[in-house]
Amino acid sequence: MVIFFKGHDVILVTGAAGFIGSNFVHTWLGSNSDGIINLDKLTYAGNLANLSSIKENGRHVFVRGDIGDADLVTRLLKDHQPHAVINFAAESHVDRSIHGPEEFVQTNIVGTYHILESVRGYWSKLPEDKKAAFRFLHVSTDEVYGTLSADDPPFAETNPYAPNSPYSASKAASDHLVRAWHHTYGLPVLTSNCSNNYGPYQFPEKLIPLVIHNALAGKPLPIYGDGQQIRDWLYVEDHCRAIMRVLEAGRVGETYNIGGSNELANLDVVKTVCGILDELRPRSDGRCYAEQVTFVKDRPGHDVRYAIDARKIERELGWKPLETFETGIRKTVQWYLDNPAWVEGVTSGAYRQWESLQYGG
Ligand code: NAD
Ligand code: TYD
Repeated sequence: MVIFFKGHDVILVTGAAGFIGSNFVHTWLGSNSDGIINLDKLTYAGNLANLSSIKENGRHVFVRGDIGDADLVTRLLKDHQPHAVINFAAESHVDRSIHGPEEFVQTNIVGTYHILESVRGYWSKLPEDKKAAFRFLHVSTDEVYGTLSADDPPFAETNPYAPNSPYSASKAASDHLVRAWHHTYGLPVLTSNCSNNYGPYQFPEKLIPLVIHNALAGKPLPIYGDGQQIRDWLYVEDHCRAIMRVLEAGRVGETYNIGGSNELANLDVVKTVCGILDELRPRSDGRCYAEQVTFVKDRPGHDVRYAIDARKIERELGWKPLETFETGIRKTVQWYLDNPAWVEGVTSGAYRQWESLQYGG
């Protein structure tokens, strides 16, 4: 395999045909001159349409493959000598992890182990200056900390891990592996733990794009339990900017919590989305989209509240989100309205099978 990035340094980014990874590629190419090798397995969640606007960009090359394929990863590292690896690749949906945890163990734990080993082999042979400058950045979630009650302080980096779902347990395990590869082998790692993201290119199995999609299709808007569970929402581009700051200036071996300080109950999120849709794309019968809200059986082991204390990344790296929930959610709804072909492309075939498995009918 020959990939040329003439005159550019290179980073290897995994899982960047997915939601956050593809947004990261767009943000990176818009603000940094380094090339990107994008390694993605293209599971149901990976979508090359997320990258179609940069098809002609010579600084981005897509390679289909698994982070657990040590031969492939080793060859990519050897051939292209990246100065950093950012690991977004994961199975990421809690409900799917409840139906079928095995893929989560396979990619999130075993896959992370394999890529750590491939990267360690590459890094250990670099000349001293390049070795010191190299970074492995592992992208993780706030869900590793478990759940908060209403009056608990938000998650700080010092909170003990207490994952409750197969997804969060597998991410917690991957974070521990990354930590151990630093402490044991000296690999220069960074870990970021972020709250719930929303924005363009999010697969409509997650709450916000699901609600937009179902609302427009005249379908029920399924709210688990009483809808009072709280998440701390962050616009995806703010997350991407935070990852760039962590890569650039984060202290090796440290973890950084990233969040939007936007704690909202699920029902309020759904009502906000419905209100924006009422304004931008009113229902033909003149009624409100919120009338489509339907309370359904709760998710087993549903975490009640997540909230992030982002003071460390603000203090040390000067990062702050640029979007409030009000501005970010309006942009997001507008993006889904402006991109019906993208939505159509991801909601056929396998997506329909998922809908009937999870929601019935
Ligand atoms: P996503 O499911 O949209 O994308 C995951 C991508 O990884 C897909 O493109 C998929 O094809 C790819 N992938 C899966 N298994 C792979 C493998 N074995 N090898 C190579 N590629 C593989 O997920 P996302 O929402 O973009 O999340 C990206 C990362 O950010 C994940 O690690 C997730 O845990 C973390 N995270 C997500 C959120 C969120 O709100 N979505 C919040 C915090 C952290
Ligand atoms: P989700 O987008 O799956 O993210 P996570 O589980 O990682 O937080 O869900 C966000 C919240 O919305 C979560 O509390 C579960 C809830 N939810 C619903 O009420 N209905 C749904 O159909 C979905 C997908 C999620």
